[in-house]
Amino acid sequence: MTTATFDMQALVDAVTRVVRATKDDGLRCDQITPFLRRWMDQPDPLPEKYTTPCDGKACGHLIYTDPAGEFFVISVVFPSGTSSGAHYHGQWGVIGILAGTDEETKYSRDTSPEDVQVGQDCELTAVEKIYSPPGTITYLRPPLEGFHRVRAAGAETGVSLHILGGTPDTHIHFFCNGDTKQLVDFPMSGIITHDPMIG
Ligand SMILES: [Fe+2]
Repeated sequence: MTTATFDMQALVDAVTRVVRATKDDGLRCDQITPFLRRWMDQPDPLPEKYTTPCDGKACGHLIYTDPAGEFFVISVVFPSGTSSGAHYHGQWGVIGILAGTDEETKYSRDTSPEDVQVGQDCELTAVEKIYSPPGTITYLRPPLEGFHRVRAAGAETGVSLHILGGTPDTHIHFFCNGDTKQLVDFPMSGIITHDPMIG
């Protein structure tokens, strides 16, 4: 029996239909999930170029940007043991773990939990730590579930696919500076490669 392919273009087309049909973040996440699942269930869904670290370091690779600016797709690569540091996403996201063991620590912030801005403090409280094997799908649901830290916990390089609201230039993304304990801007466009798989 053959299974119809569901390649990156098919996934992008499906996500485009979802975001054109609803502005509701929760619905977008729910409706994207089965398409991401279908894409992930294929053997080796991503070309090697998009599963490789940058000069041995953690980085992201741009795969696609919606011309209407509603979403973008990146792969994120963490060599074994490397970590993102605690950071905040201000827009929705659906994340599929492709390889490695993803250790995600979710945080809450007591200070103005529904209004997160650069310059504010980032005294965070760890809420839970989740270990996710390949095949897991997780979500970013800001403002209350927007803070996290990701680490490649196993011996393998961690690879995940992120479908995120906005574009690499507009996605709200703040880093928690460990020294000053303040939030600083952390533009996605500065931490990813820019040779999209689908351009
Ligand atoms: Fe993140």
